[in-house]
Amino acid sequence: MENKWLNEAFKGEVPNDFQGKVGWQSPSNIALVKYWGKRGKQLPQNPSISFTLSECRSETFVDFEKAEKFGFQFFFEGKENPAFGAKIEKFLLENQSFFPFINQLNLKVESRNTFPHSSGIASSASSMSAFVMCLLEIERSLSLSKGRPIDMVLRKASYFSRLASGSAARSVFPKMALWGATPYYKGSSDEYAVSLADDIHPIFKTYYDSILIVSGETKSVSSRAGHALMEGNPYAPARYAQANENIKNLLAALKSGDLDTFINITESEALQLHALMMCSNPSFILMKPNTLRIIEEVRTFRNETQIPLCFTLDAGPNVHLLYPDSEAEKVESFIKSELLKYCNQGRWIADHVGDGPKKMQ
Ligand code: PMV
Repeated sequence: MENKWLNEAFKGEVPNDFQGKVGWQSPSNIALVKYWGKRGKQLPQNPSISFTLSECRSETFVDFEKAEKFGFQFFFEGKENPAFGAKIEKFLLENQSFFPFINQLNLKVESRNTFPHSSGIASSASSMSAFVMCLLEIERSLSLSKGRPIDMVLRKASYFSRLASGSAARSVFPKMALWGATPYYKGSSDEYAVSLADDIHPIFKTYYDSILIVSGETKSVSSRAGHALMEGNPYAPARYAQANENIKNLLAALKSGDLDTFINITESEALQLHALMMCSNPSFILMKPNTLRIIEEVRTFRNETQIPLCFTLDAGPNVHLLYPDSEAEKVESFIKSELLKYCNQGRWIADHVGDGPKKMQ
């Protein structure tokens, strides 16, 4: 697939009667091999692999009309939200060369998340990718890329989502995505993610992600600050080498359906992410006592039952439990009887591997 179109932009005059409304929903994703540390313009220090989720998603509508100059308003869950709006506006202005037509548009964005506000679930991947899908659709209706094959459109969406929020690059593909160049996957790139859907054993397409909400508090370290802390971290070179090794071995395990290797790498990656934060300067401990209790219970349950249940963590205290469909009944009853007592008000979100962004009417 050619990439030169990635930088193409509609540079013409926007017609005076140009107006309308577009809507897209896009999911969150959970990384197995983590992206932690960046360089240059939102490029990753190491490749990452994620499951695309389904129930945790953002739904975004953009009203657009021709204007004398760029106008922008952002509403989150019905209320104007200047703080989040400023992030999107900054992304648009910094990348104006890719979207010169926005200087002739008034945009009103309305977005909502399907997951609870105070659930500690990162929303930038879903919200930024949903917004980028809308923006590219506006561009398509200005005729530039009409008729492009869908995989090219998704690649461009991944490229721009990455510029807005690194992990968002992975949310535009169904099932699983890989972001970052690696010799172990042909066509992989630091600039956009690629779909792994055709290179994984069918069992991984049935995976559940049950998210146990240990705390709904907002993160004490933003991911921007977290990535920056990697710059002075003495373990950074070893981490990047290890992440590359994990990518190689996880890709092979995903293909063959090797669940032992999958579990081993996934849990090690989650703990490494937190270890890196603990030994940064300043240091952060984002796990809570109940995070560790859940991890211990999960490992005991796995040893006793041989059920291939494992955990991963994002940059916060909540625990993502990963398991195949065939074990769903047993794992859910274990969650309800043994783990909900460690959750904030017994809260958890039942999510599963999903199909990527969808257009909304
Ligand atoms: O996309 P960002 O800049 O919010 O970084 C995400 C980092 C992690 O969620 C911790 C890991 C990942 O790969 O998603």
